[in-house]
Formats: sequence, C-alpha cells, structure tokens
Amino acid sequence: MIQYGEIVNASYPKVVVTRHLPGVSAEELAKHVSLAALPPDSPMPRETLLRLVPGAAGILSTLADRIDASLMDAAGPSLKVVSNFAVGVNNVDVAEATRRGIRVCNTPDVLTDATADLGFALLLAAARKFSDAERALRAGEFTGWDPWGFLGVPVHGKTIGIVGLGKIGSAVAARAAGFRMRVLYHNRRRLPTGHEKSLGAEYRKLDELLAESDFIVLCVPLTAETRGLIGRERLARMKKTAVLVNIARGEVVDEGALAEYLAEGGIFAAGLDVYEKEPKIHPSLLAAPSAVLIPHLGSATVETREKMGRLAAENLLAVLAGTEPPCPVN
Ligand code: GLV
Repeated sequence: MIQYGEIVNASYPKVVVTRHLPGVSAEELAKHVSLAALPPDSPMPRETLLRLVPGAAGILSTLADRIDASLMDAAGPSLKVVSNFAVGVNNVDVAEATRRGIRVCNTPDVLTDATADLGFALLLAAARKFSDAERALRAGEFTGWDPWGFLGVPVHGKTIGIVGLGKIGSAVAARAAGFRMRVLYHNRRRLPTGHEKSLGAEYRKLDELLAESDFIVLCVPLTAETRGLIGRERLARMKKTAVLVNIARGEVVDEGALAEYLAEGGIFAAGLDVYEKEPKIHPSLLAAPSAVLIPHLGSATVETREKMGRLAAENLLAVLAGTEPPCPVN
C-alpha cells in the first residue's frame, strides 16, 4: 500500500491527486506516474496543493480545487494536464490553461443519467413537500392522516421548462416525457428542429419559458453569461405555483433573492442541489420550509462516481502519454 505523501517511481512524471476518489486506483496510476500524494478523504487544503504542485506534469483535481494562474505558476512549465473529476470545469481557469498549452479534461456522459435522475427526484420532492413532511414526521408531528397536510402541486401533465438543453437537460426532458409533461427549453442557440422533435421540446425565450412553466429546471454550465441568471426580476416572472430546481451551479441563481422570494411565497417551492458559496448555505434558505436542500449530489451513485474516476485517470494518463484524451475541454 502506497502511503500519503510518498513519492514512488520518481523517474515517472509527477502527478498530484488532490483527493481520495472512487474509481481512481493509486496502485494503477503508480505504474505510469510518480504520485506526489495519495490524499485522505477530505479536500486538499490550498497550501498543501501549492506545496505539492511544483514540477508536477499532471493534477487530478475536484471541484473543491481552484486551478488558477497562481496554481499554474506554482506548478511551473512542467504542467501538461489538469484532469477534473467532474463535468463542470468552472473551478479551472480554462482560458489561462489554454494560453499555457495545458490540457484540461472533464468527465461528461458517465454522469448524465445520474444527474438527471437526481434533478427529477428534486423536482418531485419539492412539488410534494418531502423535506418538510419528513422533518415533521421525524419530529413526532405525524398525528394521523390529514386531509390538509402537506398539500403539493401536481407534476404529471404539467409544463417543464429546461434552461440548458444539453446532455443533462435532454436526459431530464426524457424523464419528463414519462410524466406526460409538456417540455419547453431555452438555450443560447436554438437546437436543430430534428433534435427538438426527438425530445418533444419547444424553444422559448428565457422570460417566456419562466412565465409558462410549472417546473423550471436549471441545467446550464456556469459561465459569465449564466452567472446570476435567475435573480429577483426573473423570479418575479414565474408562476406563483412554480417550482425551481437547480442542478447546475449555485452561482446561476441569486441565492439571497431566492430565499427572500420563497419566504414571501412568491413561488411554490425550490429544489436545490447546488449553492452560491458551497458549502455555505444562505440562512434564510435553511429556514425555508418550501426549499428541498441536498448537498451537491448530482452524480452521487457508486457506479457513476467509479466511472468518473476511471475516466479522469484515463484523461490524465492519455495526455501524459502524448495521446488525445477521451474527454478534452480545450
Ligand atoms: C458536478 O457538479 C460536476 O460538475 O460533475
């Protein structure tokens, strides 16, 4: 067993793995690279990462690691690849990496279905008040069947508006079809008619989608354009009975505005997997009975996380071997 901090095969390219990860076998990696660390199961503190990266050819990172210009400076010109254990790469300064000739890779596809399942679970849970009802039951407040207890909004046959009809958004649309929902979507660029038809999805301008949908599911990547996309003004366009689900990134929604709006009863409920300042959560959201809050679990199944780990390791090793990685971002 290789120990934390141990460097083996020093003649191989140095790699920093920032966290113990499912599907990433240190023993397997050590056949090809020299490991600067075999980290424990907690995020690597920034100082540790900065101390370990000098001379590294590769970093196997997670969303908790900020891979910015200063980290790339600390690594030095040896750095060839940042392989992120996630589909989102908003923790990596991709433009800066590209400028320096550093490849960035991610783990798409293998997590599409798990994330869409989770999105739909949040939608159902928020529509039917699972969190608040379960909290009451656990607190001993279930005193018998109640004709007025925890009345939700119906899902079946309603209209879902998907913001960001990419791979995950399309997988959410496929699930919505099983609930006989009408599917609206908004993308920066409208999809070809054939693609729209195959998903049974109708294009809408964002503000139209917000006004028409009973359920709004955010699936966009975090970019300069999508940061703060849903603020007070856009919340105000939604129906009073609407449910907002965020499986994208917390920063897509103004969390303070959402918390306030939920408290005022402006929309029916929200189901959130992601937060603006993870792991911190706005106190008013924590206090809102109409919010279903889970801790960034989109891809969290054993099978999916193992596939992500294997893919992240493959990406890393491919670049270091001078071949094209399976999932390049740049
Ligand atoms: C999780 O949020 C991911 O981007 O994989």
